[in-house]
Amino acid sequence: MQKILVARPIFPEVIDRLKQYFDVEWNNGDALPADELTRRLADKDGALTAGDPVGAATLAAAPRLRVVANMAVGYNNFDMAAFNAANVLGTNTPDVLNETTADFGWALMMATARRITESEHFLRAGKWEKWQHDAFLGADVYGSTLGIVGMGRIGQAIARRAKGFNMRVVYHNRSRVAHGIEAELNAEYRSKEALLREADHVVLVLPYTSENHHTIGAAELALMKPTATLTNVARGGIVDDAALAEALRSRRIAAAGLDVFEGEPNVHPGLLTVPNVVLTPHIASASEATRRAMANLAADNLIAALGEGPRAGHPANPINPDVLGKARS
Ligand code: GLV
Repeated sequence: MQKILVARPIFPEVIDRLKQYFDVEWNNGDALPADELTRRLADKDGALTAGDPVGAATLAAAPRLRVVANMAVGYNNFDMAAFNAANVLGTNTPDVLNETTADFGWALMMATARRITESEHFLRAGKWEKWQHDAFLGADVYGSTLGIVGMGRIGQAIARRAKGFNMRVVYHNRSRVAHGIEAELNAEYRSKEALLREADHVVLVLPYTSENHHTIGAAELALMKPTATLTNVARGGIVDDAALAEALRSRRIAAAGLDVFEGEPNVHPGLLTVPNVVLTPHIASASEATRRAMANLAADNLIAALGEGPRAGHPANPINPDVLGKARS
């Protein structure tokens, strides 16, 4: 039997499925430090990860390893150049999380615009003594301009929801999306700078790459309206969290909603001390059904990539399909 490592806690029924095909080693505890992950992968044929960094040194120390299946759509934890050089397949879990993540982007944007967590903290602290006409005044969402940075599948799902809120939609993306999609979503392309100047609510949904590092920093925040909100459901590192904390403190922008952070689970201390930010612990895809779907899809990819199950040899979500069928190097 081929050997696999499941590097993270995961739904037990998924472990049971994997055991039908593999000799499974399961780390049902905290994320493994890099050297421990490397040690545990040394004799494995495959692995299931969730954000665990996998790079050249780990692959070099694991000569049998042929696939690493990430339980996430984002795979910036994989060094894909190293995967390609070693002929190791990476897989991810796109699509199954689009609608759930779009729902959450909206939830976070609306909580941010309407100051929901800030006012809840006030209430819980026993500070609510009377109704006030000017308490927790926020920004309207209905009828405002939504700026989506990253018009992939999740960005498009977010844009689709904007119709019901009668919003103008502007977007920025590496490349323009097809005319038909722009028309269906009623979304207009803008440069990043124009979008930041124009949008009342900016939502970030782009993948993290080295080119996208600090896509939003002090210079970009300076372009935004002082009444605008910024929501990040993409990845930590796309926003310069220190610059954002300062922009929130000085009210350069009105508020932010953040589900992802640079260096998470650590959070920049400046973000923890300002009231005008809604903070959630990387849960945008965390509905019961979607997290189960992601776990099962990651397992399906692993099973297929290791030549087992109904799709043997044909995993649904290869990141680097060119290495399929090539010998490990
Ligand atoms: C979660 O962050 C994902 O990339 O799926």
